[in-house]
Amino acid sequence: MNRLHASHSTPPHTAVVGLQWGDEGKGKIVDLLTARHDVIVRYNGGANAGHTVAVAGERYALHLIPSGILYSDKTCVIGNGVVVDPEKLLEEMATLRGRGIEVGDNLKVSNRAHLVLPYHKEQDAAYEEFLAARSGLGEANAAIGTTRRGIGPAYADKVRRSTALRVGDLLHPERLRSRLEISCGLRAAEMAALGVKAPAPDPVDLTERFAAFGAALRPHITDSVYLLHDLVAEGRSLLFEGANASLLDIDHGTYPFVTSSNCSSLGIPAGTGLPGRLVERVVGIMKSYSTRVGGGPFPTELLDETGDRIRERGREYGTTTGRPRRCGWLDVVAVRYAAMICGADALACTLLDVLSGLDELKICTAYRRGGQRTERFLPDAEDLEGWVPEYETLPGWSEEIVDTSDRSGLPANAQRYLERIEELVGVPIELVGVGPERNQTLATSAWRDPPGR
Ligand code: GDP
Ligand code: IMO
Ligand code: MG
Repeated sequence: MNRLHASHSTPPHTAVVGLQWGDEGKGKIVDLLTARHDVIVRYNGGANAGHTVAVAGERYALHLIPSGILYSDKTCVIGNGVVVDPEKLLEEMATLRGRGIEVGDNLKVSNRAHLVLPYHKEQDAAYEEFLAARSGLGEANAAIGTTRRGIGPAYADKVRRSTALRVGDLLHPERLRSRLEISCGLRAAEMAALGVKAPAPDPVDLTERFAAFGAALRPHITDSVYLLHDLVAEGRSLLFEGANASLLDIDHGTYPFVTSSNCSSLGIPAGTGLPGRLVERVVGIMKSYSTRVGGGPFPTELLDETGDRIRERGREYGTTTGRPRRCGWLDVVAVRYAAMICGADALACTLLDVLSGLDELKICTAYRRGGQRTERFLPDAEDLEGWVPEYETLPGWSEEIVDTSDRSGLPANAQRYLERIEELVGVPIELVGVGPERNQTLATSAWRDPPGR
């Protein structure tokens, strides 16, 4: 293992997916691997994602735009499975341009991606307030702790069909207007029922605003499905960037405390229009500990000084909402399950440097409840209730490791920790994060000299 160098041979189509509850460092790894690929594709989620890329002391927070955007010669595609808030997208484009990053023909947005409208965000907040108020009445806290970016309501409209709008509609003001008339009418009735005081959404005003967003986005809007197939046919190498993470996957996460899309690698075919077999390598990203933002079960959560220490050293505050992240020991039961769902071929173990200075480290290898024991994850919030982690304890290391350039140069106990994770998950760790910067990554030789397809 050594620091990563870009290679010029064509690497296989690769997916980068989170194996925990998000914020595993996907943005950093996508940015790093972008050097080897031609096209970087988001297939799920929306502006609930917050992907950080750190290069030469500069930090970039990306929400809708793929983390490959810092390389001007690569194509970045927002696929049909993403829910796009056009106002946020334009803001993000402007912020990047303001920092000297090229955002032009290198950014494509699917005409079939669904739109997030202002009323989706109001609804998201209103549902959360409603649920939180119920818990104030002594019921279990059912609020999900969403990012309030309108994600759930936008995907709900996609499934409901008659009230949905897609990016392509932005280019047809009349179509936009007639669809908005329907959805605003229904929305006003729903919001009144929820007791929301906000003024009813106005279809005329929204048509005007969104048609203007459409005019600004026009050069980027395209049929992403044909575009991606054409790029594949030309021999381009694709890198898929998962947003959110496998344990937040709508079908396979800790339901109902999940997001509203398939964030595992299983979301790729539906979210891009490419056949699943196209993806040749799946890199599962995992932190060397666990974090979670929002509600929901978290068996290894640390509500003590160690949890606080990890939060401060790891700067574990949300990239999107600024919320403090819940921190805990590594849960291998959860990671092994996520790696299985995603078909992970390799792991990237990030934020290892955060664990320096802890006397000992714990890894959850099974769950226990009463006399029962299981090594299988329980992807349902209520089923998971009451299970407590069974830990294996490993010795820690005191040295700072941010300047390490090779896995064999890590303290012996750090190497042992990584080896034990590999054994327990059953997947090799091929990338190790020892700091937030692009070059603070240790990589196996496979990543320095990738095999061609
Ligand atoms: P993402 O949502 O998966 O892209 O992750 P986030 O960007 O939300 O959160 C990961 C945080 O950890 C960001 O602040 C990154 O800059 C930072 N980070 C990523 N990898 C490492 C690492 O190996 N060490 C340290 N110390 N920070 C890292
Ligand atoms: P990245 O891509 C961490 C969580 C929210 C909440 C739940 C539902 O940066 O890893 P939503 O707004 O999607 O309806 O919220 O999912 N969540 C994330 N947590 N990182 C993310 O993205 C997340 N995206 C959604 O905190 O608990
Ligand atoms: Mg994040």
